[in-house]
Amino acid sequence: MPLLRRVFNQCNRSVVLLAMVLPAAHSLADDVTAGKAVYQKNCQACHQPTGAGIKGAFPPLADNPNIKDNPEHIANSILKGQSGHITVNGDSYNGMMPPLAHLSDENIADVVAFILAEWNESKTTLSAADIKALR
Ligand code: HEC
Repeated sequence: MPLLRRVFNQCNRSVVLLAMVLPAAHSLADDVTAGKAVYQKNCQACHQPTGAGIKGAFPPLADNPNIKDNPEHIANSILKGQSGHITVNGDSYNGMMPPLAHLSDENIADVVAFILAEWNESKTTLSAADIKALR
C-alpha cells in the first residue's frame, strides 16, 4: 500500500531527524555540571573551591559584581589572562592571572556557565561559538 508506506517512511525520517538533533541540545544544567569539573581542574587552586578567592591575592568569583551578567569578562580573563588593578566588593587586587587559552571553547563556555549560575545568580551564558569568536 503506497500511502501507508509513505506515512511510515515519513515517521521514520522524523525519528532519525530527532535523534540527530537531541544529542546536540545542551541544557544549562549539563553545562554547569561539566563546568564544575573544568573549574576544579583549572581555577580552584587560585580562586578556591568555594569561589571565595583569597583576599588581596586572588579575587572571588562568587558574588562578584564585576562578572555578574558579564560572561564576556570571564571568557576574556581565561583567554587573555588578567592583570592590573581591580576592585571587588571594596577589596583591591593587583596580581596576574596567566591566560588559559589552551582550554577548549566548550570547556570555557561550561566554566562560565558554572561560575555565573552557581555563584552569581545569573543564567547568562556563552556558546562555544561565542568563545571561538572572542579568541
Ligand atoms: C594561577 C592562579 C590563577 C588561576 C589558575 C586562575 N586565576 Fe583567575 N585570577 C587570578 C588573579 C591573580 C586574578 C586577579 C588579576 C588582577 O589583579 O588583575 C584573577 C582574575 C580573574 C578574573 C577577573 C575578576 C574580576 O573581578 O575582574 C576572572 C573572571 C577569573 N580570574 C576567572 C578565572 C577562571 C574562570 C579560571 C579557570 C579557568 C581562573 N581564573 C584561573 C589568578 C588565577
